[in-house]
Amino acid sequence: MVHKNVWERIYKDVPLGRIPWRTASATWFYQLVDNGTIPVGTTLELGCGTGEKAAYLAEKGCKVVAVDISQTAVKHARSLAKQARVEIDFYAKDATDLSFLKNRKFDFVLDFANLHGIARKKQQTYAGEIAKHTQTSSLFFLRCFSKRTPNRKKDYFIDQLVGSWKIWYFSEKDILALFGSDFKVVKRHKEDYKAPVVDIYFDEYLMERL
Ligand SMILES: C[S@@+](CC[C@H](N)C(=O)[O-])C[C@H]1O[C@@H](n2cnc3c(N)ncnc32)[C@H](O)[C@@H]1O
Repeated sequence: MVHKNVWERIYKDVPLGRIPWRTASATWFYQLVDNGTIPVGTTLELGCGTGEKAAYLAEKGCKVVAVDISQTAVKHARSLAKQARVEIDFYAKDATDLSFLKNRKFDFVLDFANLHGIARKKQQTYAGEIAKHTQTSSLFFLRCFSKRTPNRKKDYFIDQLVGSWKIWYFSEKDILALFGSDFKVVKRHKEDYKAPVVDIYFDEYLMERL
């Protein structure tokens, strides 16, 4: 449960205004929602954090299930949904085990910066869970840290905020190794983001279920 405690501690100890990913830009994601590429349908967000994207999708008419390992994050996300007057099914659960969803399948799955914080040994299981809860033509949006990041020394970095937990970088080859047996990449986008401490590059992928 080390992993769960790390995230819970951040949401408990760090003031909301100082949690860096809450202010990271998400321009391409919102464009894909607004131009109708991302379908208005059944939607699953994994690692929803404080729920801004889940609320946006629900406001557009999506029927959203949102999962986060931190109870405190889910508490914030619930109050945001209430303010926005949208209904979202929230679960404070580990997204590497989605058995609580039974056999539900979703038209769209969103992982906005969740995969890269999942322990390497659990990443393939996580990918399998996403495949299990989608069907042919479902879409999957993923944002993750990129191996294009300048001055990268290893395949991971240790974030000051997260503590000793490893945050992983991915290349497209890595993404295909994890998801390629069930998904094909249909669009991609590169986002070079100047974070407060280090410059980190993100890659974003829109994938379609085979
Ligand atoms: C970098 S934050 C991104 C939050 C949100 N997607 C956003 O864009 O603001 C990663 C989130 O994933 C959650 N998380 C990490 N590991 C998880 C897991 N195994 N299952 C569910 N949520 C997880 C964390 O609690 C955190 O809220």
